[in-house]
Amino acid sequence: MNLQDIISLDKKYFMNVYGDRTPVCFTHGRGVNVWDTEDNKYYDFLGGIAVNALGHCHPKLTQALKDQLDKLLHTSSLYYIESQAKLAKVLAENSCADKIFLCNSGAEANEGAIKLARIYFKKKGLPDKYEIITLKRSFHGRTLTTVAATGQEKYQKPYTPLPPGFKHVAINDINALKAALSPATCAVMMEPIQGESGVNLVDKEYMQQVKQLCDENGLLLIFDEIQTGLGRTGKLFGYRHFDVEPDIFTLAKALGGGIPIGAVCAKQQAAAAFEPGDHGTTFGGNPFACTAALAVMDTLLHDGLIENAANMGEYFKGRLLELKNKYAVIKEVRGKGLMIGMEFADEISKDIAEKLLHQGFLVGSIGTSILRFLPPLIITKEDIDKMIRALDEILE
Ligand SMILES: Cc1ncc(COP(=O)(O)O)c(C=O)c1O
Repeated sequence: MNLQDIISLDKKYFMNVYGDRTPVCFTHGRGVNVWDTEDNKYYDFLGGIAVNALGHCHPKLTQALKDQLDKLLHTSSLYYIESQAKLAKVLAENSCADKIFLCNSGAEANEGAIKLARIYFKKKGLPDKYEIITLKRSFHGRTLTTVAATGQEKYQKPYTPLPPGFKHVAINDINALKAALSPATCAVMMEPIQGESGVNLVDKEYMQQVKQLCDENGLLLIFDEIQTGLGRTGKLFGYRHFDVEPDIFTLAKALGGGIPIGAVCAKQQAAAAFEPGDHGTTFGGNPFACTAALAVMDTLLHDGLIENAANMGEYFKGRLLELKNKYAVIKEVRGKGLMIGMEFADEISKDIAEKLLHQGFLVGSIGTSILRFLPPLIITKEDIDKMIRALDEILE
């Protein structure tokens, strides 16, 4: 099909939640590159919004999935699943978590984490402790409860009344958090770096104060690592930048390298609150998705991708800062590893993203003044240099 026919079909039959999408349709990819219906080649600096950590068609992931396709896709959670058990082991052994639950998406993982926090206190005989404090400008998903957790009115307004039990406080303001505490508070939940609202960094000192506050008040600390997890920030998990361990953290996006899978990861004390019948899913953690995640984890842990994310992140940020020194319109370059935002003094990010697209580079625009870069963790200096050259020409 040609692009116009695809767009017409989409406009006629797909619910209009994505509005006028970028008018491109990709047909195949390899490494950091994707090609569209007109056979134009692009460098993917958005990585499916932090999903394609291994790039496109990584041979290890592709081969593992091909092999699994010939064996078994799905059985149900009524039976034991070898790849599920193995994946839980890999995630637990490489993190601060002891136990894992597998589901299908980021929002579902966060729902699971919220349910776990609530049931933890119910089973302690404290049913009135159910409130979770999250940050303003956070993003935790699109289900009703994760929309309630998300600290952005634009996602909440159309769906009121929302499930109760969430308060939102300003980022990096420990007094605001202290003031929000009440006898009903059961947990604090945050992204180690806010992704969707513009790559907003959480201060290390603040994070450590949050942890201390949670410990002093017997609250659970939940990290949404759906975007920051799995090497994206140059460490396997975002929390490792803060020398703070959460009681519960969630994963999704990169975990399946493109196959939908999410995870709720928890320390034993919290995890033990889930008992038979308390939670579950039909598809979550099925043999196909777990095979994907095992291949992703194996590649991340053994092929130097996390080190590459740290090194290339430094290099990329340095090159973007060179542009900042050259062009006054660039207000700030911020981020960790390969999770980088560039904020402009003017509302030009959409225009720049469009121009980059025409030059063969995919990036994200947040609102009208922030560009977001989330390239695959296999990105090289040469790829980054090409993008910088294009951005430089556009800004000129
Ligand atoms: C930090 C964070 N949490 C949760 C989600 C929701 O994940 P999903 O779209 O897989 O439900 C996202 C998605 O962008 C995210 O960035």
